[in-house]
Amino acid sequence: MKNVLIIGSTGQIGTELTLELRKRYTEGNIVAGYIPGAEPKGELAETGPAELADITNDKQIAEVVSKYKIDTIYNLAALLSAVAEAKPQLAWKVGMDGLFNVLEVARQYHCAVFTPSSIGVFGNNTPKDKTPQDTIRNPRTMYGVTKVGGELLSDYYYIRFGVDTRSVRFPGLISYIAPPGGGTTDYAVDIYYAAVRGDRFVCPIAAGTFMDMMYMPDALHAAIRLMEADPARLIHRNAFNIASMSFDPEIIYQNIRQYMPDFTMEYDVDPLRQSIADSWPNSLDDTCAREEWDWQPVYDLDTMTRDMLAKLKARI
Ligand code: SER
Repeated sequence: MKNVLIIGSTGQIGTELTLELRKRYTEGNIVAGYIPGAEPKGELAETGPAELADITNDKQIAEVVSKYKIDTIYNLAALLSAVAEAKPQLAWKVGMDGLFNVLEVARQYHCAVFTPSSIGVFGNNTPKDKTPQDTIRNPRTMYGVTKVGGELLSDYYYIRFGVDTRSVRFPGLISYIAPPGGGTTDYAVDIYYAAVRGDRFVCPIAAGTFMDMMYMPDALHAAIRLMEADPARLIHRNAFNIASMSFDPEIIYQNIRQYMPDFTMEYDVDPLRQSIADSWPNSLDDTCAREEWDWQPVYDLDTMTRDMLAKLKARI
C-alpha cells in the first residue's frame, strides 16, 4: 500500500481511516475522495490531497486512480441499514452499481480493494449466537442485500480477474469524531453523546436486543491489518467475521452509569430499527479472521466507555 484512494473519506469510518493511513504511510499519497456537499474540512483537508470521487461516476474514479497511481482503494461509500430502507433505490445505486464501478477501475488499473461488509448480511435463518464465518446469508433489508451482493461480486472479481479484494463484516461501530449515517446500531453511539451532554437518552432499540459492536480504533486496525496481510494465508476474502463485544441497551447503559450515576434512559422502540436488529446475530464467531490474519481486538465495553466519555467530554 503506497498510494491509496478512500472513497467516502468524510463519513464515519473514512474520516478516521484517512488520517490513520496518512500517519502510517508517509511516502505515498493518501487521497481523500469525496462527493459535492461533503468536502473534507480541518485536519482531513490539511494533511493530504482531496479529489472528487463519486462512486456513481466511474470516469471520475478512474481519473483519480490514474493521476495518483493508486494501488489500493478503500470503498467506504454506503447508506446504512435504516436509511437504506427509506431510500432502497439509492442504496442499490451506491452499494452495488458503485461497487461495480470500483471493481472495474481496480481491474483496469490493478488496484487492491477493501469494501466493508456488515453483520447486516445475516438474516432470520442465520444461527444467532457465535454466528459462523460460512453460514446462511438471507437478509431482508436493502442494506443486507447490497452487502451480500458486494461480498459475492468482490469474490467474483478476485476469482475471475485476480483483483485483490478483501473485506470484513463490521458490527456496529462506535466513535466520537464523525457520526454514523442512519444505521440500526447508531443508538450505541448516541447514548454516549446523551450521557456527556447531560440529556436523558431515549433508546430506539428494546432491552434484551444483543448486537455485536466495536470501537473505531479496532475497526481501523482491522481494515489496515487485513489489507497488509499475507495473501498466501487467506482462505477467505469477502468477508471476514470480526468481533470484539456484544451487548444490549441495558448493559451499555449500566456501564455508562458506573461513571455517570445520574445518567437516565427510557425506551421508545423504533419498529423499523427493532425489526432489523432482531434479524441480526447476537454475536459473531471470528475464528477465521484470528487464524488467517491474526485479528485481535484491543477494546472491550468498559475500556471503550472510559475512552468515549473522556474524548467526548473534551470535544463537547
Ligand atoms: N452499523 C450498521 C448499521 O447499523 C451495521 O453494519 O446499519
